Amino acid sequence: MDTPDRDPISAAPDGRPLEEQPKWRRDFPIDWRQDEYVSRRDLIKFISLTSAGFVVGQFALVFRRFWGPPEDSAPGIQAIAALDELDIGETKLFEYPKGSTPKMLARLGERQFVAYDQQCTHLLCPVIPEVVDGKFHCPCHNGFFDAATGNVLAGPPPRPLPKVKLATKDGIIYATGIERRTS
Ligand code: FES
Repeated sequence: MDTPDRDPISAAPDGRPLEEQPKWRRDFPIDWRQDEYVSRRDLIKFISLTSAGFVVGQFALVFRRFWGPPEDSAPGIQAIAALDELDIGETKLFEYPKGSTPKMLARLGERQFVAYDQQCTHLLCPVIPEVVDGKFHCPCHNGFFDAATGNVLAGPPPRPLPKVKLATKDGIIYATGIERRTS
């Protein structure tokens, strides 16, 4: 249906006057200028909301960093293996705390056990134990960690593996906390 009483629309993209435009274009209810204005307004709204979300996220991180629980806080004490469950050189995966990313317990010697987060500190690939060679290997970008300390031996990982603190009692190995290290 024609709408002669509507405000004339601005110049069409092909530059021809309104009366020479096809009917669908004359009937289209939004002026091009207004259409462009709406798009720009939506873009500005989107950028504003994204920026606000980013700022709120930064504040949340700062708040958590300074007023949240300390990073080394103990998630509790949890039995993870029997002392004689692993042979020297063997490893076992476990969750500590329950539902978290996998951790690895490794037996390096007769009475030497270590445990770390299995996620590489570079881009979170799971590391592979090569305990016999005294290393953990991240195959994603060839990162290597020292099995005895969790420190970076080679490759792009920026930090040592987070370490699970261990204690033994009555033949059982317990996880007692997580130590996140920056160097
Ligand atoms: S994710 Fe491990 S080295 Fe890149």
